[in-house]
Amino acid sequence: MSSLKGKHIVLGITGGIAAYKSAVLLRLLIKKGAEVQVVMTPAAKEFITPVTLSALSGKPVVSEFFTANTGEWHSHVDLGLWADLMIVAPATASTLGKMANGIADNMLVTTYLSAKEHVMVAPAMDLDMYASPSTRRNLATLACDGVEIIEAAEGELASHLVGKGRMAEPEEIVERAEKFFSRSEDMKGVKVAITIGPTYEKIDPVRFIGNYSSGKMGSSLALECAERGAEVTAICGPVSVYPDHPSVRVIKVESAEEMCKSALEDFEGCDIGILAAAVADYRPEVFSDHKIKREGTEEMTIRLVKNPDIAACVGSRKKEGQTIVGFALETDDAALNAEKKLDRKNLDMIVLNSLADKGAGFRTDTNKVTIFSRGGRPEEFPLKSKREVASDIVDAILKYRDKQKIQG
Ligand code: CTP
Repeated sequence: MSSLKGKHIVLGITGGIAAYKSAVLLRLLIKKGAEVQVVMTPAAKEFITPVTLSALSGKPVVSEFFTANTGEWHSHVDLGLWADLMIVAPATASTLGKMANGIADNMLVTTYLSAKEHVMVAPAMDLDMYASPSTRRNLATLACDGVEIIEAAEGELASHLVGKGRMAEPEEIVERAEKFFSRSEDMKGVKVAITIGPTYEKIDPVRFIGNYSSGKMGSSLALECAERGAEVTAICGPVSVYPDHPSVRVIKVESAEEMCKSALEDFEGCDIGILAAAVADYRPEVFSDHKIKREGTEEMTIRLVKNPDIAACVGSRKKEGQTIVGFALETDDAALNAEKKLDRKNLDMIVLNSLADKGAGFRTDTNKVTIFSRGGRPEEFPLKSKREVASDIVDAILKYRDKQKIQG
């Protein structure tokens, strides 16, 4: 039986050529047993008629805030609460921009803002629009907000140019929706603690030693676990966007020492501990209360002392049934160094991202990882969005825990 059976799905359709594929998508969702409410933007009606969609869904299509002749109000709040899943397919550049920035000038975007459950977008547009910095920025913002991006495929586009921008095929979107429901509860009752982002080590009241970590990978992991039913404690260094989900408790810290203190408390009772933070290995030995002045100081030396190794501390206190996962960022002898860290820090798994790979590591929205598990073979994954990587990592953690349980 499909995991879509009986699920409430809002299908948002926006104004692009690919809107014709939405009819097929709708048909497939209905065939799988889902109840689907279509919400269209006004522009979408230029590409596909509401008559087709209401006939296929068995429900009147919603497009405006009011029905013109009766004045009946369509509640986006009710729709948002009703939905177990919202899929926006096709999602145009304009709608992605509105969703990312909360520009609620139509029924579809207001419904998105009211949606409490998972949201997926399947972008479709011309290749240059898809590659443009503003589209990439909006997709990155949406991914940080927990929206699942079903990346566009390569192929011939409406402009007859060939490139990346074709909406994913309806079958793939249905598969992603089924996957979402089948695993949406697979972490129910599981407690996760995770360190995220950089740490800042104070030099004086205006300066610090930090690093390029954005916290995106850790936040994606926190959201992925929460959406799969886990209770998450996220210990976050100074990141720009914190993971926002009712099941994520955020603890804000700044330095490695603060992060370590929090981690030792919060990893204690967790089932899964993930060390995704880029912790500064050293901090200034002294902190100057006053701003260090340039005048009269020709040269300066800051003496650094070692910070605690949070992963090793947590690893040394690991209890039966706990799974501790670290990250490794390497430039040389990547696999060998990752495996050494796995052992040295008493971890169960380590996720290696190699700085040698384009699109992997700091300040990107994508990542390419290899996962090393104790007693298992390394598993290498292709370049993917950080949200997709988070899903692969969580799948691997759950697989590892299942194996541990079987082995007793
Ligand atoms: N880590 C940590 N505390 C530290 C340093 C690292 O918890 N003070 C964690 C990271 O969150 C990551 C793992 O340890 O999960 C490996 O981090 P990495 O920076 O790759 O390794 P280091 O131990 O710092 O070793 P090196 O910098 O020499 O490669």
